[in-house]
Amino acid sequence: MGQKLWQGRFHEPTNSLMERLNASIHFDKRLFRQDIKASKAHAAMLGAQGILSEEDARAIRDGLDAVLAEMERGDFPWREDLEDIHTHVENRLKELIGEAAGRLHTARSRNDQVALDLRLWTADSIEELDLALAEWQRALVELAEKYGQVIMPGYTHLQRAQPLLLAHHLLAYVEMAWRDRQRLADCARRVKVLPLGAAALAGTTYSVNPELVARELGWDEILTNSMDAVSDRDFAAEFIFACALIQTHLSRLAEELVLWSSSEFDFIRLADAFSTGSSIMPQKRNPDAAELIRGKTGRVNGDLLALLTVLKGLPLTYNKDLQEDKEPVFDAFDTVLDCLKVMAPMLRGLEIKAGNMRQAVKKGFLNATELADYLAARGLPFREAHAVAARAVTLAERDGLALEELNLETLQALHQLIGPDIYEALTHERAVARRSSPGGTSYALVAQALTRAREKLWL
Ligand code: ARG
Repeated sequence: MGQKLWQGRFHEPTNSLMERLNASIHFDKRLFRQDIKASKAHAAMLGAQGILSEEDARAIRDGLDAVLAEMERGDFPWREDLEDIHTHVENRLKELIGEAAGRLHTARSRNDQVALDLRLWTADSIEELDLALAEWQRALVELAEKYGQVIMPGYTHLQRAQPLLLAHHLLAYVEMAWRDRQRLADCARRVKVLPLGAAALAGTTYSVNPELVARELGWDEILTNSMDAVSDRDFAAEFIFACALIQTHLSRLAEELVLWSSSEFDFIRLADAFSTGSSIMPQKRNPDAAELIRGKTGRVNGDLLALLTVLKGLPLTYNKDLQEDKEPVFDAFDTVLDCLKVMAPMLRGLEIKAGNMRQAVKKGFLNATELADYLAARGLPFREAHAVAARAVTLAERDGLALEELNLETLQALHQLIGPDIYEALTHERAVARRSSPGGTSYALVAQALTRAREKLWL
């Protein structure tokens, strides 16, 4: 029969519903690697400090390796009646090595133990997310390189605004992902702070050496206040926020893919692998993957709110409410990672309908700014130049023409500064090429941006 770690003064059995409410093993079992790694580091420190004998410390470490091996192999005897991962590991350790197992928990509490486990897990997960973000960036860059010269309408208010390069549009998401990666790296600095040594809440009477434990785990920082150390979940909230913002970025791109794949836009075709059909309308190709990525943003935002709500009313220090920190953290991570892993191949399989993008650029007077700029460059105040261009748009619209289809006489009647070179200025290629201010969409700048991205992403 497995023992509760806290059984000592209890004589009556726990209510079975309470037991179910209390149990966290069904989700915290995924902390097993971190729990064992942390316990090994703790045992080594206890040995080094002479708190435990070197034999006991060694027996514990070897025993923990054996438990880990069982868990990795999948033949670990998980049990319904043991409440959490810490209980499972310690209980099994006792079965394997006997009495010495009971010394592992010296100078430690589950309060600082679980805080460390979650910190270790979050640090590992940040690394995994960073790799997936880099892969998403590479998929965006590859697509941008493949369609480097394709001109498409740029939008504001979802109204056609100015022509730009599709590559420029895609690179905007690469920038978002850089910030996501920086945000995670910054978050990792606050994740990798050792809470062990806080014990239950006030510190411990044993001569522990948290720096040694930190070093063993590859971290540089240790707790400064034991009460904060056991109750702080800011790192977890920050991590979920970083996930929520990644998911938001994915969702914005997903929304564009949904729009672009509609017949109304018809800018792209999503690969079969990322689309579905309709059970009733045979003609349909639905962008389900993109829609799900957009939809799952709701749950990641929910994870953030769940954790913030758990934290908001908690008095210091550890409260069992904190057990509720894990599921939102895990869910946010799982969701974002899945979505990143779908987004990258979905982009790689995208067919770009460059001709349709090009057609769309021709309709909607996207070169009206060019006409205004042309006049302003010849001395007309921009406000007046804008008014002249607006009149040209009105005329063209009335006759169902594009600006470049108005004849020279008509244009010159609008303003005498307009010369025959206006037609060159009105081409969309020129409109793109001339946008060479820092961060602009000109061919030259976008080519440079692609080269830089390549250098940074394919080291
Ligand atoms: N399962 C618990 C949690 O996730 C472990 C810590 C329990 N600590 C305690 N004092 N009951 O928070």
